[in-house]
Amino acid sequence: MVISFGCSARRRPTWILALLLLILITMIRVHGQSSTSGFISLDCGYRNTSPYKDSVIRGIQLLSDVGFVEGGLTHQIAAEFMSGAVYESQKTLRSFPNGSRNCYTLPSTTGKKFLLRALFTYGDYDGLNRTVDGTLFLFGLHIGVNFWDTLNLTNMDPSNTLWKEVLTVAPGDSVSVCLINFGLGTPSVSALELRPLLDAMYPFVNTSVSVGYFRRIRFGEATNFITRYPVDPYDRFWEQWALNSYPWINLNTSSQVEILPGDDYFNVPMAIFQKATTLDTNYSSS
Ligand SMILES: *[C@@H]1O[C@H](CO)[C@@H](O)[C@H](O)[C@H]1NC(C)=O
Ligand SMILES: *[C@@H]1O[C@H](CO)[C@@H](O)[C@H](O)[C@H]1NC(C)=O
Ligand SMILES: *[C@@H]1O[C@H](CO)[C@@H](O)[C@H](O)[C@H]1NC(C)=O
Ligand SMILES: *[C@@H]1O[C@H](CO)[C@@H](O)[C@H](O)[C@H]1NC(C)=O
Ligand SMILES: *[C@@H]1O[C@H](CO)[C@@H](O)[C@H](O)[C@H]1NC(C)=O
Ligand SMILES: *[C@@H]1O[C@H](CO)[C@@H](O)[C@H](O)[C@H]1NC(C)=O
Repeated sequence: MVISFGCSARRRPTWILALLLLILITMIRVHGQSSTSGFISLDCGYRNTSPYKDSVIRGIQLLSDVGFVEGGLTHQIAAEFMSGAVYESQKTLRSFPNGSRNCYTLPSTTGKKFLLRALFTYGDYDGLNRTVDGTLFLFGLHIGVNFWDTLNLTNMDPSNTLWKEVLTVAPGDSVSVCLINFGLGTPSVSALELRPLLDAMYPFVNTSVSVGYFRRIRFGEATNFITRYPVDPYDRFWEQWALNSYPWINLNTSSQVEILPGDDYFNVPMAIFQKATTLDTNYSSS
């Protein structure tokens, strides 16, 4: 059984992003930073307190979440799903059966812009098949006192991994990420990741505006469903575009993709710009 990544997929908006990406291609400069300095990667529920490196996410050091949260119980996903885990951090999780609000405290720097991501693999850790028992399975995510998102695990394949991502500015020298119990299932989390961004990036994100993840898609051929660090020095998740069969045609180039100086808004990696998808112009659907 393979642990796969799932989002509540909706087909139509892909078009908007496809267009947006094409427009952005003409105006974005590639800019590199390839250090993991400031990265915080917590493997929730992992009990060994020595840091480790994941063989798939090369170069990133993961830590147990011990010391970043109080309470909760540590678990492993069911044995049948273990071999399908892409990342080590999907194998363990921490659940919060008690309390309506349980918070992690992650160190940060006041005013620093960063990406915050939380990953959730249910993996039938409690043996209850809770995602497919026919009842609602929902819990909330807050950043401090602000609502971030709702996790809806109802009817989810237990081997799926959901993730939520937000671009935000640290309000203080720490950021608190809270799991909110709605009384519709025990909240749990598998991994928490904090990635610093350049201040110039995403200029519409500021102390009063944060931006949640909808989709971030890469076109052309991709080896994995998720492209991330080290291809993207900021470790953003880029989803492989689903429609890569005829009449869609994958293109690639090994040339340097032309970039404009002075535009640090998105810093899309050149490796992503070097691949694209086009439609066979001879194709007609009617
Ligand atoms: C939850 O609360 C019960 C009753 O107060 C307590 O026995 C148990 O240890 C708590 N569990 C966790 C994970 O905090
Ligand atoms: C969970 O679902 C699996 C597959 O549908 C089934 O084999 C198993 O018996 C279920 N477990 C429980 C506790 O209902
Ligand atoms: C959660 O997902 C279920 C199944 O897809 C759906 O029926 C329900 O409306 C969703 N609830 C919310 C609050 O999104
Ligand atoms: C944040 O950005 C929004 C939209 O661009 C703007 O209206 C708002 O004044 C900004 N807030 C701060 C504190 O700069
Ligand atoms: C690049 O495109 C060519 C065809 O134009 C194809 O043969 C080659 O496999 C592609 N390479 C990659 C890395 O996608
Ligand atoms: C489209 O049709 C033209 C003329 O028949 C042909 O030369 C060309 O190779 C076709 N393009 C593709 C992508 O099949």
